[in-house]
Amino acid sequence: MKIQRTFLHTAAVFICLLLVSCNSHGQTPLPTRTPQPQRVQTDRSPRVGGECEEGYCELMYFGMPKEIRSEDTSPGWDEKGQKLIVTGTVFKIDGRTPAPNVIIYYHQTDNDGYYSPRNDKPENQTRHGHIRGWIKTDENGKYTIKTNRPGPYPGREDPAHIHLMVKEPEIANEYWLDDLVFDDDKRLIPFRKKHPASAPRGGSGTLFPLIKGDLQIAEHDIILGLNIPNYPKKQESGHRSGLSIGDGQPSFGPYHAYGPDKGSEACPVCRYGRFQGVLYFVGNKPDWSEVRSWIAFLEQESVKRGKFLKVYFVYGDTKGYSPERRRTQLEELGAQLNVRNTALTFVPSFADTGSKANLNKIDPNVENTFVIFRQRRIVDKYIALKPTAENFRLISAALDRTKGEFFDLPEPAHD
Ligand SMILES: [Fe+2]
Repeated sequence: MKIQRTFLHTAAVFICLLLVSCNSHGQTPLPTRTPQPQRVQTDRSPRVGGECEEGYCELMYFGMPKEIRSEDTSPGWDEKGQKLIVTGTVFKIDGRTPAPNVIIYYHQTDNDGYYSPRNDKPENQTRHGHIRGWIKTDENGKYTIKTNRPGPYPGREDPAHIHLMVKEPEIANEYWLDDLVFDDDKRLIPFRKKHPASAPRGGSGTLFPLIKGDLQIAEHDIILGLNIPNYPKKQESGHRSGLSIGDGQPSFGPYHAYGPDKGSEACPVCRYGRFQGVLYFVGNKPDWSEVRSWIAFLEQESVKRGKFLKVYFVYGDTKGYSPERRRTQLEELGAQLNVRNTALTFVPSFADTGSKANLNKIDPNVENTFVIFRQRRIVDKYIALKPTAENFRLISAALDRTKGEFFDLPEPAHD
């Protein structure tokens, strides 16, 4: 059976190749947007990642070298267009444990937006085009791809993107991840308005490129199994509060009772999303002695890390809610603790849609939820932590571990 299946796969690849080759005339604007499930298999357990468009995922293996390094330079690196380095860590589903020996395959359009073939190798003449390659994560889960920025499909509204697929050592089949897109791409926001991003596969695919000389560098971590159908391992159960590590940090507008943006409803992630942020949520079970200890600690971290860290206390107790009382209460707290950097904010409840606080999916009945984000993406999360010296060290270490390697580099100009 196995041989037969392998033969059928090989045959499928060749037929696909033949069809593509017949249609190819120099440059091929084949719009391989994120593939969608198309067929249902009945002869075995559900495929991890769901089904993949016929012949699409198999192309990952076409021309794949036996030896794969953790760094790869694509043919695009030496072609026209902006040079780009995508680098990061691949984590297991807990979002914290690095995953070694994972193969990531990428393919993208050229600078003109075409999956253009190259005639030197058959694998470069498929609908994946010639700018494609593989990395295998090193012992620390790290990888680096050196390429050029893809062009958007000509005449279409899709943002420029890079397709990713992953093959884990312990999972039988490959599965596709969210496309990598670019924060500074003017097509992105209009496209997202029509096609909102939800449940990103492997984590948010939005890149935030920074400039280093003639290069752009974007850090991108991948969380294996995150939002992947039929994935064999699940995230730890227990307290469920907040979004997952790897999800995008949503925009929302809590009222700032105290701190740098006092009197406003400044959106934490919009205003300071480029660096690191801590959102410290407390709902219906405030223990004010503990809240004070946490705010005092987080304020110290914020002072120590300067512009690279912004801290927000977000209070969402529904009991006896009154905006005036809340404001006074947090003003008094800020003054007593001599807070300078930390924003003390509140929302009517964590289910509130007016402020969009609901998007954070915080359970109001856990003592606290700490969300650490970087470049608008959740990079760590803790629930129900007591303000002990050990937990302060835990948060400090998490901030060190998840801070950007390239924070000091400037961003490209964009709206
Ligand atoms: Fe595509």
